[in-house]
Amino acid sequence: MSVAQVKSPDRLTPFLNKMHHGDCIATMEKMPAKSVGAVVTSPPYNLKNSTGNGMKDGRGGKWSKAALLNGYSDHTDCMPHEEYVAWQRKCLESMMRLLKDDGAIFYNHKWRVQGGILQDRQDIMAGFPVRQIIIWKRSGGINFNKGYFLPTYEVIYLIAKKNFTLAPKANSFGDVWEIPQTRDNPHPAPFPIELAERCIASTSANVILDPFMGSGTTAIAAINNSRDWVGMDISSKYCAMAEERIVNYG
Ligand SMILES: C[S@@+](CC[C@H](N)C(=O)[O-])C[C@H]1O[C@@H](n2cnc3c(N)ncnc32)[C@H](O)[C@@H]1O
Repeated sequence: MSVAQVKSPDRLTPFLNKMHHGDCIATMEKMPAKSVGAVVTSPPYNLKNSTGNGMKDGRGGKWSKAALLNGYSDHTDCMPHEEYVAWQRKCLESMMRLLKDDGAIFYNHKWRVQGGILQDRQDIMAGFPVRQIIIWKRSGGINFNKGYFLPTYEVIYLIAKKNFTLAPKANSFGDVWEIPQTRDNPHPAPFPIELAERCIASTSANVILDPFMGSGTTAIAAINNSRDWVGMDISSKYCAMAEERIVNYG
């Protein structure tokens, strides 16, 4: 057998259907390029670096016991803004390297007003092929300041490579998704399984990556849709939480 005929080892299989504990950029760098069909993810929002809603000092009656006030177990969520933007852009670059030519990223984030200016995350998105913005109407949020209306929506950036097309009939989902937040998850900032499922069902991807997997929501959604998945999280506590949730689900 000539060298050219030797079957190259499958470098993706060892990553499939597992949680990988560690920094997502370092883990993504170990994966083969163009091996993933879709990314469904929600990064930390840098919420503790916030001017107006009391996240820093925890003031604010009704939500003073909100789990998110304590932050994540292994991430402060309080970077200087420029550093946060640079970090998220690096994460997106790694995701783009892993994405097939017909792949797409569903990147859930939140717009907010900081110092009177809308932080619409354009600084993170600049240069990436954003195709559409989906509004997730989550019916209920948290608010630490009596001077603010209760926030009830987040956004999902659909960042799509050139050959990406929606799965048949998915365009009828529209661009405002009304999906209630789940309340039975011990992770401080989970998204609902239904949200991840809608993203996944909108694609024909076989392998779904979530580099910020938290409690395992994207993995459960992938399993429910008969897709393979790859999960990563910096926190060993959340990796264990995800593994347990995935085993016990359904
Ligand atoms: C918004 S939460 C994701 C929650 C998830 N969608 C769920 O439903 O449970 C963000 C996650 O990113 C993780 N994280 C923070 N920094 C990270 C890093 N450098 N690499 C991988 N994960 C990280 C946090 O531990 C947290 O679990």
